[in-house]
Amino acid sequence: MASTSTMRPLPVVEGTDPSKCVLDSFRIAISQKLSEALPLTLEQAFAGVDYGKKGEDFTVAVPRFRLKGKVDEIAAQVIEKFQPDEWVESVVLDKSFLHFRVNTTSMIREVLNQVNSLTHSTASGKPEYGSNDSGKGKKVIVEYSSPNIAKSFHVGHLRSTIIGAFLANLYKACGWEVVSMNYLGDWGTQFGMIATGYEKYGSQEELEKDAIKHLFDVYVKVSKDAEADPNVKVTAAEWFKRMEDGDEEALKNWRVWREMSVKKYEAEYERLNVHFDVYTGESKVKKESMDKALTQLEEMGLVSDSNGAKVVNLEKYKLGSAVVRKKDGTSIYLTRDIGGAIERYEEYKFDKMIYVVATQQDLHLAQFFKVLELMGFPWAKDLVHVNYGLVLGMSTRKGTVVFLDQIIKEAGNVMHEQMQKNEEKYAAVENPVETSMEIGITGVKIQDMAAKRINNYTFNWDRMKSFEGDTGPYLQYAHVRLASIGRKNPHLLPLPPASEIATEALAQYGHARDIAFLLGTYPDVVKTALKTHEPSGVVTFAFRLSHAISSAWDSVIVKGEEDLEKARAKMFLYECAREVLAAAMRLLSIRPLERM
Ligand code: ARG
Repeated sequence: MASTSTMRPLPVVEGTDPSKCVLDSFRIAISQKLSEALPLTLEQAFAGVDYGKKGEDFTVAVPRFRLKGKVDEIAAQVIEKFQPDEWVESVVLDKSFLHFRVNTTSMIREVLNQVNSLTHSTASGKPEYGSNDSGKGKKVIVEYSSPNIAKSFHVGHLRSTIIGAFLANLYKACGWEVVSMNYLGDWGTQFGMIATGYEKYGSQEELEKDAIKHLFDVYVKVSKDAEADPNVKVTAAEWFKRMEDGDEEALKNWRVWREMSVKKYEAEYERLNVHFDVYTGESKVKKESMDKALTQLEEMGLVSDSNGAKVVNLEKYKLGSAVVRKKDGTSIYLTRDIGGAIERYEEYKFDKMIYVVATQQDLHLAQFFKVLELMGFPWAKDLVHVNYGLVLGMSTRKGTVVFLDQIIKEAGNVMHEQMQKNEEKYAAVENPVETSMEIGITGVKIQDMAAKRINNYTFNWDRMKSFEGDTGPYLQYAHVRLASIGRKNPHLLPLPPASEIATEALAQYGHARDIAFLLGTYPDVVKTALKTHEPSGVVTFAFRLSHAISSAWDSVIVKGEEDLEKARAKMFLYECAREVLAAAMRLLSIRPLERM
């Protein structure tokens, strides 16, 4: 009962890759039928074959071909000529749409075999199922997270971290070479303030315990002092000036603070399953780069003087005017971004650079992109701002969130309490604290990525911790349940080679068909995400798949299936579903759990 077959070979269509997305083959087979019945080239036909919207496999909107004649008559030509085969099973006309149904047995077999073979190729270093090589040979820098040292880590930074990690994974999955970059706010007058305050409030011990928190505390205290005593700000400005001038004495402490803050952040990012190839920051942008840029801007006649400050007028582009140098000569955020981008191009020669920054900074990003374009850098067109809306209402029970580790801890605690409510289940969890933290983080991430980036949303701990509805815990649960089938049916494992599994036994189950088809769409979900830079499509896919799986539990049953061939085929289906669900979760930077 071997299930490999040789299918009728199909022509090649440019831009498709059946070796990575086997549903492309089915789409080509449909296109072939269309182009044989109608005056269309294969490519024209192919462009008209879309996924069905209401549970059909593929749909063609007949009018889109702009052919002469009535829709009904055109459709009739297709239907008359239609011969079912091993690729395509049937066609029906519904208003002006032709719905095609692919051959169930072939589709299930081809999809599962592809998932299985690409999944098991990861060991050999090949990219896993769902990935493609559209970005081969290209390099992208993804800059994200980018918190400010000694200031609070706000939810905006959290969103940048979550969305940025997703984008870095996504580009990798599409064959790009990715440089993940964290551009720290590690420079500016606040460091003069901290240096001033540190003499009075600093403690080596506190610094070593939690550098991020201690520096923040010092900053808060010295800022209070400054309200009462204007001299504090003067001293602070002098400090910062010395730092800008490269005075080693003034820089010594700052270096330690920065290093210790980065260390603390690294541990927290690790918790979140987020990694950076490069920690850079505003402090790293060289003075020479900024001076050179300013000189060039002046030579090009783009700079004017405004009360001693230097300004680039961008009114023509409805971008206001941008200050590039302050009156006292110190550098500013915008100029650092201009200099920074130039340095990055020189160092990396990127094909694309993405900045994941909140919409509050839309103007800032648009201004410095425009300045770089006016300066004539051809790569300025390759800069992309991926923006996102606000998160409202995220506070812990102790109050406002100031630090990233507060969010992580709270997520873990909220989840831990939730899990303790089910005593029996809780007792069975091997590592409840660790597990609840992982689920809690999943909850936070899913809530963040569930809707379009641009939307604001209100954070809700109750929704985040719920196992019902489209939540992070639900997703983890769906994965754990799939992982448990193997544990509960050890006699079926390891499965024989895919070619020996009787996948045709699954064709009788509608729910198995639904799952297989969804699995087949995953490579396209990844492709679409690359176009839109939206994680929400991947989240939606993960939930659709989870729902399809949960609908199948009652009919596609492994436990107690006496027919060994059938039991294996079902096991194979769930294994493949687990692999793809896990791949989607990993793309979203979530670590899929095996048990909970
Ligand atoms: N550190 C900045 C902030 O917290 C975000 C940096 C964004 N990236 C950039 N290249 N400007 O607001």
